[in-house]
Amino acid sequence: MQRSSIRTLVLEFVDTNGASHIRQMHIEILRVKPGTPEHTIRARLSEAVSEGFLSRVGNGFYDIYAEEEGMTSVVSYPVRCSAWGDHRYRGNCDGRLPKNLILRYNARAVCDPMEGSGTVRDLVSGLNRYKKKDINYWGGDLRQGFDLTQQEIPGRHDFIWLHPPYWNIICYGSGDTDLSDCPDYGAFRELLMRCLHRCYEALLPGGRLAVLIGDVRRQGMYTAIIRDILNFPEGEIRSIIIKVQHNCVSDRRSYGRMEDVPIKHEYCVVFRKPVCEAKEIRTELFVRA
Ligand SMILES: C[S@@+](CC[C@H](N)C(=O)[O-])C[C@H]1O[C@@H](n2cnc3c(N)ncnc32)[C@H](O)[C@@H]1O
Repeated sequence: MQRSSIRTLVLEFVDTNGASHIRQMHIEILRVKPGTPEHTIRARLSEAVSEGFLSRVGNGFYDIYAEEEGMTSVVSYPVRCSAWGDHRYRGNCDGRLPKNLILRYNARAVCDPMEGSGTVRDLVSGLNRYKKKDINYWGGDLRQGFDLTQQEIPGRHDFIWLHPPYWNIICYGSGDTDLSDCPDYGAFRELLMRCLHRCYEALLPGGRLAVLIGDVRRQGMYTAIIRDILNFPEGEIRSIIIKVQHNCVSDRRSYGRMEDVPIKHEYCVVFRKPVCEAKEIRTELFVRA
């Protein structure tokens, strides 16, 4: 089913029924079982509208903006939720992991300095709209002229989502400081560490930096990018989440004769900036003096 037609449907519905029903409709349409024909969805929708179904179910609807209870350090989203960002953008990520983290940490100022198609931007805008949150958002991307290796992130944030290129797995072709365009791993690591540092600097005390990254295997060589992320010296590691990968381009290849096992996961490492870092430094200076 086309995403644009879902949107059209929602808009038609809002036009005729007013804004009060939009949240429920939006949510229910997005929950649709993959592969359901569009005419079936349209039929169910008109039934729902004509029978007053929506007003009866009230708040009991499945809610894509709700925090998923029981999240653990292993997450898996076999069916992509295309409510946010653009799934056609290469490297686009499902927004449910950042959503759960933003809600879990009760973030008020969110930033995504490599926003690509704007998954986190759209997510925050939906949370504000449908959950009546008041979350500030700032986003940028090299493709829109913001270079994290060269520029400071404006403002201070309590949740920064960083989803960099996994070195040269997908090439975004934006020039020398594009992390996906680095000639060798050493150059990539240097830029990546610079980006992590900039993010860390833009965190408020107590704020969190979540980095989504995957390792690379190319021509038999395994590059463990995670090793460098885990060795980032600033902040404290609070979580290491394994995210199972689905629907990758590599899924269509046959690994029958591979010596080593195919990579089917990525990582989300969450760092926290200590609340009293400044106080700790001041105390240290005082003790030294
Ligand atoms: C994996 S994609 C992010 C996808 C995004 N999370 C989404 O859901 O659409 C990585 C992004 O990093 C951007 N990028 C690469 N180097 C950058 C740099 N130096 N500064 C800012 N963005 C950069 C690329 O343009 C690309 O959009």
